[in-house]
Amino acid sequence: MKEIEKIEKSLIEKLDSAESKDALEKIRVYALGKKGLITESMRSLVQMDIEERKLFGKKINLLKEKITNLINEKRSLIEGAGLESKLKSEFLDLSLPADLELDGTVHPISQVIQEVSLIFGEMGFDIADGPDIEDDWHNFTALNIPPEHPARQMHDTFYIENSESNVSSSSSEVLRTHTSPVQVRTMVSSKPPINIIVPGRTYRSDSDQTHTPMFHQVEGLVIDEKSHMGHLKGCLVEFVKKFFNLDRVNYRFRPSYFPFTEPSAEMDIGCIREGNKIVLEGDQDWLEILGCGMVNPVVLENCGIDSEKYQGFAFGVGIDRIAMLKYGMPDLRSFFDSDLRWLRHYGFSQFDFPENTRKGSF
Ligand code: DAH
Repeated sequence: MKEIEKIEKSLIEKLDSAESKDALEKIRVYALGKKGLITESMRSLVQMDIEERKLFGKKINLLKEKITNLINEKRSLIEGAGLESKLKSEFLDLSLPADLELDGTVHPISQVIQEVSLIFGEMGFDIADGPDIEDDWHNFTALNIPPEHPARQMHDTFYIENSESNVSSSSSEVLRTHTSPVQVRTMVSSKPPINIIVPGRTYRSDSDQTHTPMFHQVEGLVIDEKSHMGHLKGCLVEFVKKFFNLDRVNYRFRPSYFPFTEPSAEMDIGCIREGNKIVLEGDQDWLEILGCGMVNPVVLENCGIDSEKYQGFAFGVGIDRIAMLKYGMPDLRSFFDSDLRWLRHYGFSQFDFPENTRKGSF
């Protein structure tokens, strides 16, 4: 019996001086491991006679329990102390004034994507996403643009080499020419009602003052049982007013053609041009800002949605174009030159939260 008391004493001393999780683990193995002191003592029970075994067994079991509890307590203590010192070393005083010396600005495109997302977010739209490299089916065919369709020519498509390119098979791959393929992806993978916007990069082989090979669009899609052209109109007029901070806006919806919408329209806003400058006022001149329409039933069916039951509208806005208009940048190409002087001039502060949210909501 002396033996057990000795073991207990020595283990408790060791535990008292353990200061790390590693040290604690070593003690655990030393006491309770396969060849540990307590485990070995338990093994010796076999050689004892019944009476001795009863007594010794009880004591050694109690010791085992006691040591296990002590190890657990000590572990919590060590972990707690670790957390405390970690918290102390990582302490950050959020009430200190921000370091406004921070270099770098938010790119106008990122800012505008945030603004657009906030406006549509307040209207109940979710944000959806899709790949930049698309297959022919999602980018064209499912959107009612079959291989021979003349609309394909309008898209100045970048084909991906090695992907049976140019031969327009549905497995060939392209850099998506618009964000509309995400309409298809969303309709294929989810059930109506659908309310999404898709801000993202798009690509076409084109470059001049108002075109760059990579540009940005935001797509919108609403599918349910009742949405009609009136909802489309209300939604877009409200968006334009919020985005450009206008109480009143002159607009017109001009009939147009897109294979994936029927009927289709383009929205123009009234403006005055003063040389290179465009002011969004009056109706002397018109500026096209987006394409839209009621989703073509053919597209719904291509995506597995019952066109007898469901209907809806879609729209596509050029983000770069509305950014240029709102913030007065004359040349689209400079968006992507990475010229630090331009970025400092046109960029936004990290702390400048898009203003739309500050002005009440719908
Ligand atoms: N995808 C069209 C384009 O890039 C834009 C567009 C027009 C999108 C009408 C739409 C829409 O969703 O309804 O030219």
